Amino acid sequence: VLGCGYWGSKHLRVLSSTPGVDRVVAFDRDGDVLGAVAERWPSVEPASSLTELLEVVDGVVVATPPGTHGTVACAAIEAGCHVLVEKPIATSVAEAEAIVDGAECRGLVLMSGHTFEYNPAVWKLRDLIRGGDLGRVLHASTARLNLGLYRGDVNVLWDLAPHDISILNYVTSSRPDSVSAWAASHAHDTVEDVAYLRLHYGRIGLVAHVHVSWLDPRKVRQVTVVGSRKMAIYDDLAGDERIKVFDKGVVLEPAARQAIPPTASYRQGGMECPHIDFEEPLAVEARAFVDSIRWGSEVVSDGRSGLAVVRVLAAAERSLRLGRPVEVDDGDTCRAAEGPAVAGSAAGTGAHRYNGRLSGRAPGP
Ligand SMILES: NC(=O)c1ccc[n+]([C@@H]2O[C@H](COP(=O)([O-])OP(=O)(O)OC[C@H]3O[C@@H](n4cnc5c(N)ncnc54)[C@H](O)[C@@H]3O)[C@@H](O)[C@H]2O)c1
Repeated sequence: VLGCGYWGSKHLRVLSSTPGVDRVVAFDRDGDVLGAVAERWPSVEPASSLTELLEVVDGVVVATPPGTHGTVACAAIEAGCHVLVEKPIATSVAEAEAIVDGAECRGLVLMSGHTFEYNPAVWKLRDLIRGGDLGRVLHASTARLNLGLYRGDVNVLWDLAPHDISILNYVTSSRPDSVSAWAASHAHDTVEDVAYLRLHYGRIGLVAHVHVSWLDPRKVRQVTVVGSRKMAIYDDLAGDERIKVFDKGVVLEPAARQAIPPTASYRQGGMECPHIDFEEPLAVEARAFVDSIRWGSEVVSDGRSGLAVVRVLAAAERSLRLGRPVEVDDGDTCRAAEGPAVAGSAAGTGAHRYNGRLSGRAPGP
C-alpha cells in the first residue's frame, strides 16, 4: 500500500485478511504515518522507499492524494506491478491514459478504486434497473454532501463526484456523452466546495444530476432513480435499509398530457426494503484485485472505466470554464456540445463557476 493516510490505512486492514495475500508492505513518504502503521499493524512490513516496496510486491494499492496518482501508478507499472489506483485514477485525461496504456502494454492488472461498484446495495440497484422493476428510467439524481473534508490538491468535483459518476455508469451500463457543470468556492478563494453536474446519457435517453458538497450541515449519501413503474432510493447511510423501492408514480392519460392544469392521478403504493447480504465493499474490492492477479479474473472497475470517469470530470472542468455543456471526449479531441450556453451563474452571465465574484482563472483540480 502506497500512502497510508485515512483511506490507505483501510486498505492495509482489509488486505491483511484478504485470501491469497502473503505479505502486506506499506510505504508513506511521511515517516510519522509509517511509524503509526507499524504500531497499529505489527504484521505490516514498512518499506523505506517506493523503490524498495516495488521490488518486493506483486500488486500495489495507490492511496496517495489524487494529484500524485499519475506519477506513482506509472512508476509501479514500470516496475512490473499490478495496480489498484484510488479514485480518481488521475487528475487529467493524459495521465489516466498513460496509466491505462502502460498497464495494457505490460499485460498488468489495472483496477480503479471505485469502491461503490463492489457495494451489494449498488448491485441491487443495478438489478432493479436491469430487471425492469423500475420500468423505463426517467431520471436519476445523487447527493454526496457533508461538512468537509476540504482537500489540498483537488476540488469537491474531483474528490466526491467520481463515486457518483462511477455508480451511475455502473447501474445504467452506460456512459454520459455530455456534461454541464456549475460550481462555487465559498470557504476558499479558488477551490470549489459545492458543485452540480448534469450528465446526459444519450444512448439510453437519461439525464442525471449529481450534487456534491463539502459545505453542508449533514452527511448525505443518496442516489434516487425514478422509473416509469417504480422509484428507488439508495441511501448508503441507512444500514439495513440501504435500498427502498417505492410503488409510486404519476399517471397522465394521453389526452390529458397537454391539458393545463394537468389532470394527473397519483399512484401511492407501498414501499419495499429488499434484504441485502451486505459485505464491506473495500474487502470485496481487495478480493477482486487479488483474484485478478492470481487467476486472471476480470475486474468490474478496470482501468478503462477509471479513465471514463476522468474524462467526465475533465469535461465538467471544461464546462465550468466555458459556461456551457461540453461533450465528453472519447478520444483526444475536445469539442463543445451543440446547444445554447446555460445561464448557470448567480451573476447570470452564463458562467458556471461562481465564487462570490466571477472567476476567470483557468480551472484545474
Ligand atoms: N474509495 C473511497 O471510498 C475513498 C475514500 C477516501 C479516499 N479515497 C481516495 O484515497 C486517496 C487517499 O486519500 P486519503 O483520504 O487517504 O488522503 P490522506 O491525505 O489521508 O493520505 C494520503 C497519504 O499519502 C501520503 N503520500 C503523499 N504522497 C506520497 C507519495 N508520493 N508516496 C508515498 N506516500 C505519499 C501522505 O503522506 C498521506 O499519508 C485519494 O485518492 C482519495 O480520493 C477513496
